[in-house]
Amino acid sequence: MAIIASIRQYTAMQNLIAQAKGAIRHSYAPYSQFRVAAAVLDEAGNVHIGVNVENVSYAMTQCAERNAICSAITKGAKSISAVVIYTPTETPTPPCGACRQVIREFASHATVLSVCDSQKRIESTIDDLL
Ligand code: THU
Repeated sequence: MAIIASIRQYTAMQNLIAQAKGAIRHSYAPYSQFRVAAAVLDEAGNVHIGVNVENVSYAMTQCAERNAICSAITKGAKSISAVVIYTPTETPTPPCGACRQVIREFASHATVLSVCDSQKRIESTIDDLL
């Protein structure tokens, strides 16, 4: 059973990575040129995606993770079990402080995985990050 559970978890994470990569083309980052996409898994097994959406007033910029989580909650999700962050860079990017707080709100023990275009990854839990 443990093997089946870990295969399921691996497949779910691969799906989140694929969905985040697929969403990156929608990132709106004309000011920083730093594109970010996120995919989150809810308690029902549904995937929700988000990208960063910048604004000329930098304070109003929306991060990818927060957009993915807000989309999930808007569609009726109650909790999040995994968050994947994808950047088309050589090194992975961990969530910013504000996103960590929002992840914690809905994903008390979530796995947070940052991936990029190299093999480098950062895998942690929100408990570790906060
Ligand atoms: N960004 C995210 O989308 N998520 C993070 O966790 C870090 C930062 C975005 C915000 C901004 O559009 C760009 O990356 C540069 O900071």
